[in-house]
Amino acid sequence: MSPPIKPRHAHRLNALPPYPFAELERKISEKQARGDDVINLGIGDPDLPPPDFFTESLQRHAADADAHFYPTSQGNPEVRKEIARFFQGRFGVELNPDTQICVVIGAKEGLTNLGRAYVNPVEEVGVPSPAYPVYGAGVATLCDAHVRTLPLREEDGFLPNLKEAEGVRMAFFNYPNNPTGAIAPESFWKQLGDFCDTHPETIVVHDNAYSEMTFDGYVAPSLLQFTSNCVEMHSISKVFNATGFRIGFAVGREDYIAALVKAKSQVDSGAPLMIQRAMADGLARYNGATPPPEVEVTRKAYGERRALAEQALEKMGLKVTRSPATFYVWVHIGTDEMPFANTALNKNVVVTPGRAFGLTGTGFIRLALTQPLERIQEAMERLETI
Ligand SMILES: Cc1ncc(COP(=O)(O)O)c(C=O)c1O
Repeated sequence: MSPPIKPRHAHRLNALPPYPFAELERKISEKQARGDDVINLGIGDPDLPPPDFFTESLQRHAADADAHFYPTSQGNPEVRKEIARFFQGRFGVELNPDTQICVVIGAKEGLTNLGRAYVNPVEEVGVPSPAYPVYGAGVATLCDAHVRTLPLREEDGFLPNLKEAEGVRMAFFNYPNNPTGAIAPESFWKQLGDFCDTHPETIVVHDNAYSEMTFDGYVAPSLLQFTSNCVEMHSISKVFNATGFRIGFAVGREDYIAALVKAKSQVDSGAPLMIQRAMADGLARYNGATPPPEVEVTRKAYGERRALAEQALEKMGLKVTRSPATFYVWVHIGTDEMPFANTALNKNVVVTPGRAFGLTGTGFIRLALTQPLERIQEAMERLETI
């Protein structure tokens, strides 16, 4: 029998870097198969369970008479109305649920389909470095476009220089930030709002996936408080510890939302209705900007973990980016973070090398605080011996 013919991949597939966490996952599985006691601070997937109200709502809505039909790409009209109510209370921004909101199957789907809707081959996409890898690989590369790197440097508070984004087709921003944990000050939001208003050639996408993961009284804003000429992604993954349920929403300028819906309608059929409704029921528990008590409990847990890790790492003489947001701790190791990350792995502590998020991340590591407090304590004790 002749050997099977292996079709060539499309160039864009060959151009994709390996998803950074796939390799890490493989190493972790190997260790776990050997029976090693691995503490995984690599992947940003909450260990805490979703609030009961979320899973109960999901179960209830699975039995809805219309739950088995194809959903719509833009999302259920009642769900969009609830998102508009939440957005008004939480951010003080009024949205038209018919034209300015689209439910997405997680922020990741929204980001990539928005790219499909606007980015042509060879055009440039402004991508921060370091950043969530999907902006560069999932949008620019899969649209046959080029990445224009927007470096986020420690000395600039991990904020980009907007001059460097001039002329790109689409540009991504993300505060509170993954992987640095950085938040943006009011002055930056105003600058970014002005940029949106004065650069109509650039579609500005703000990824607000961590808006609700904040501590010490910090309240993260929406870019829509500063401009209406943008699109913003929101995710339920972190606020309700629900990464596996795949739900979120895009909000913003009407033509951007319409373009996203048009792209989505050829790619997916929308998020399952029961999951949309569980999101809406959860958001309905917000009282203005005040989240339900279950979210406060989650925030308290992550806040305690963050305080523990920040203090322990600083005691080791490492430079930590202190932050009132996200469950990521970004640590400056030196010029090359790989020896530290590899030694940590030998001690069965998984951390992510900063370069996995872009070359400007070289010299840093990211810790995701997705383990119970006592496991983080144990991880810190192991790291102390490096
Ligand atoms: C910055 C950022 N945006 C988006 C996402 C993905 O969100 P979702 O689970 O809603 O697709 C993540 C997940 O880690 C993220 O870190």
